Amino acid sequence: MATREASRTAVLVCQGRAVAHGRMAPGRYADPTAMALLRPAERVPVEQARTGQAPKGWAPRVEYESMTAIAEVMVPRTIAIDDAVRDRPHPQVVIVGAGLDGRAWRMPELADTVVYEVDHPASQQDKRDRSQALRPLARAVRFVPVDLSREPLDAALEAAGHDRAQPTTWIWEGVVPYLTRAEVGAAVAAIAGRCAPGSRLVLNYQSPSVVAWCGRLVARVLTRPARRPDPLGSEPRRSAWTPASIRAQLAAAGLTVATDDDLLTLARRLPIAVRHRRSLRSGRVAVADRPGAG
Ligand SMILES: C[S@@+](CC[C@H](N)C(=O)[O-])C[C@H]1O[C@@H](n2cnc3c(N)ncnc32)[C@H](O)[C@@H]1O
Repeated sequence: MATREASRTAVLVCQGRAVAHGRMAPGRYADPTAMALLRPAERVPVEQARTGQAPKGWAPRVEYESMTAIAEVMVPRTIAIDDAVRDRPHPQVVIVGAGLDGRAWRMPELADTVVYEVDHPASQQDKRDRSQALRPLARAVRFVPVDLSREPLDAALEAAGHDRAQPTTWIWEGVVPYLTRAEVGAAVAAIAGRCAPGSRLVLNYQSPSVVAWCGRLVARVLTRPARRPDPLGSEPRRSAWTPASIRAQLAAAGLTVATDDDLLTLARRLPIAVRHRRSLRSGRVAVADRPGAG
């Protein structure tokens, strides 16, 4: 991140999850922690989007459309990652770039699991403040402040008590686009170096898309007259990966990709109305495993 402020994009995706909770794909998707992790002012556009009624006026309308679009992306992304985590229960989960991820507070499947939340120090402090009133369902939550563009992940996890000899499920969701290719490579190497046999990496990344790039540009232009802060101003996109390049990067680190689906494909398997095909098509969730026991 260019600044030391807490991540704005983490708030945006949390808002999307809060919009979707109880309204989209019921029975498959739920995140009761999302609304609880938001501050009162951040809940206002969420409540508006949850009415399903577009408000009058330019600024509220832009915000409404943004909330609705993010919710549609978050549902297949969250479900795919949750399924991959449940499918491979491990004593340790590491969430890299955790933001306002609520899994440690909402997934009963993590009752025997220690969750390590890695994030940029400013974002992590913000998360600690916001999560104070929540009770974890995970066995324990350990916060690991790391700026991935400056500090080694391996040493930070070692110091926090992560056990490289025990299998781990890694969640790396919505973070890769904000890192350079070199930073992604360094993080993959650190993750792979701490993957006991049977470990699993669940990775959400963006594939290159001119259409999605144009869409973000339009969204930035629209937010200006709406006087909304542009989250991508301080958190610019830095890397996109083809499925082949991700597969090669992970294979070089000894991780074998088992599945790699775009969010549009995942969304079409769910009981939701698909409206934002383009943004769904460029987001992907890959599941890669370290061969061995598991
Ligand atoms: C879009 S948010 C995603 C948060 C969360 N994974 C989710 O999906 O809800 C991006 C996250 O990446 C983190 N991040 C971005 N650059 C980082 C860096 N250099 N070091 C550590 N974390 C970083 C931000 O702090 C933020 O929490």
